[in-house]
Amino acid sequence: MFVDTSYNVLLWALFPLIALVSFSFLWHKQCCNKEKRKLPPGAMGFPFIGETKEFFNAQSRNQLFEEFVQPRIQKHGKIFKTRIMGSPTVVVNGAEANKFILSNEFKLVKSSWPYSTVQLMGSESIMEKDSDKHRYLRGVIGTTLGYAGLEVLVPKICSSVQLYLATNWKGEENVSLYRSTKVLTFRIVFECLLGINVEQGMLDTFERVLEGVFSPAIMFPGSKFWRAKKARVEIEKMLTKVVKEKKKEMEMEGNLLREKDGIMLLSKLVQGMMQGEISEKEVIDNVVLLVFAAHDTTSFAIAMTFKMLGQYPHCYSKLLQEHVEIMNNKKHGENLTMDDIKKMKYTWQVARESMRMFPPIFGSFRKAITDIEYEGLTIPKGWKVLWTTYGTHYNEEYFKDPLSFNPSRFEEAITPYAFVPFGGGPRLCAGYQLAKLNILIFVHYVVTQYHWFLLHPEEPVTMDPLPYPSLGMPIKISSKYA
Ligand code: HEM
Ligand SMILES: *[C@@H]1O[C@H](CO)[C@@H](O)[C@H](O)[C@H]1NC(C)=O
Ligand SMILES: *[C@@H]1O[C@H](CO)[C@@H](O)[C@H](O)[C@H]1NC(C)=O
Repeated sequence: MFVDTSYNVLLWALFPLIALVSFSFLWHKQCCNKEKRKLPPGAMGFPFIGETKEFFNAQSRNQLFEEFVQPRIQKHGKIFKTRIMGSPTVVVNGAEANKFILSNEFKLVKSSWPYSTVQLMGSESIMEKDSDKHRYLRGVIGTTLGYAGLEVLVPKICSSVQLYLATNWKGEENVSLYRSTKVLTFRIVFECLLGINVEQGMLDTFERVLEGVFSPAIMFPGSKFWRAKKARVEIEKMLTKVVKEKKKEMEMEGNLLREKDGIMLLSKLVQGMMQGEISEKEVIDNVVLLVFAAHDTTSFAIAMTFKMLGQYPHCYSKLLQEHVEIMNNKKHGENLTMDDIKKMKYTWQVARESMRMFPPIFGSFRKAITDIEYEGLTIPKGWKVLWTTYGTHYNEEYFKDPLSFNPSRFEEAITPYAFVPFGGGPRLCAGYQLAKLNILIFVHYVVTQYHWFLLHPEEPVTMDPLPYPSLGMPIKISSKYA
């Protein structure tokens, strides 16, 4: 058949335009079929960039809620739209919205991390998984952090903390509390949870990865992301060796988990690998992810607990009394038990109140996997959703007099999904129990063994990109028994 070439060329030239017109026609049709489609109020800013700059400026000053979210809530309401990092995003606030978004994980939304985070944490980690694989990995972590697992973990954490204090605090006058909690959390995750020995230089290498996690994914020699990628390669090498050794060890013993390995997470993951449930990459990516998830969060929670204790002497004396009573019922040097942990009720209230006022995680991003109807508004498929901790933690609807530090408020029931430092729904923090033990046990040994005070009670909190005390929280210490 004869085809006029000029017509053909014209057709090709016009193709993008035709495509655009027909797409927008289809889109329009789809849009208007749904009669009530109404986007949330809010400003999208410039194309692509949107309000990214405002978002990051507020974040770097640790004023994300005060300077970015709060003014928009006042202007548009608790649910508003914006555009951050190229994506149209709906920010939701309040217990109802938290519940709606968090409990509909996999059904209406799925977690959505920045490209650099996924690259550095590994594409096969639990946070990138849904349905069956997600359930399987939660199960493996869950058996280690279930009740029987915790009974075994408590004495191990006790001896890690005691050893750390005896070798790093003894004889010192000033220490950085934040640095101490970071080193210790790292050891606890590796040695007590995973069952991997920490070797020289490992913490530094991991921290280099973490520094790149929220930085722009620019592969330029010397950039944060580039350095982080290199550190990630080193870690992979190290962990591949560890995994292969563990596998060999388990094969020699006839594929059985030894009694003493019963709760070690690495053994469980390697067992899963040998049974063909997960791949070697999945084992490695999840080890990296666990360290990442535990590290800055737990250390920040401990640091803020001490900040509050330093600022509220009456809370401190009440807390100290709780620990002295526990200590007086033990022989010198004896490890704590789960029963002792259960007696630390007030301490856990103090820690939760500190996390309410200073949540280690601001909130996190989701992506709509379908058009979502919520409160008469539509969140279109493909848009991002940001849920926040501050949206409820600082709201007097849920916490009376929200700016005052009042641990006893946790004696009364709290509205579900109003206190969300650990998130909620199917992605509720998988390490919640470990974080709790880590915080309570560390507090116990420090307050019973040391007099301490904050060298800078007004030390500001900075974000990079997670919050941390800007001076590393130096404290002055002296041993109670020296
Ligand atoms: C005070 C300390 C901690 C805080 C505040 C915290 C907070 C959170 C939050 C908010 C989430 C949910 C993120 C989302 O919904 O997108 C989460 C998830 C997670 N956390 Fe934690 N976390 C802490 C400690 C830990 C520790 C010690 C571990 C492990 C050893 C851990 C492992 C995880 C894992 C594996 C997930 C992903 C769960 C999933 O996707 O199903 N976290 N954490
Ligand atoms: C405390 O627990 C650790 C780890 O389980 C153990 O090695 C140590 O012997 C225990 N200490 C005492 C005094 O029982
Ligand atoms: C500890 O810090 C205080 C206050 O910053 C300082 O005066 C003192 O010299 C420090 N002591 C040591 C041993 O570093």
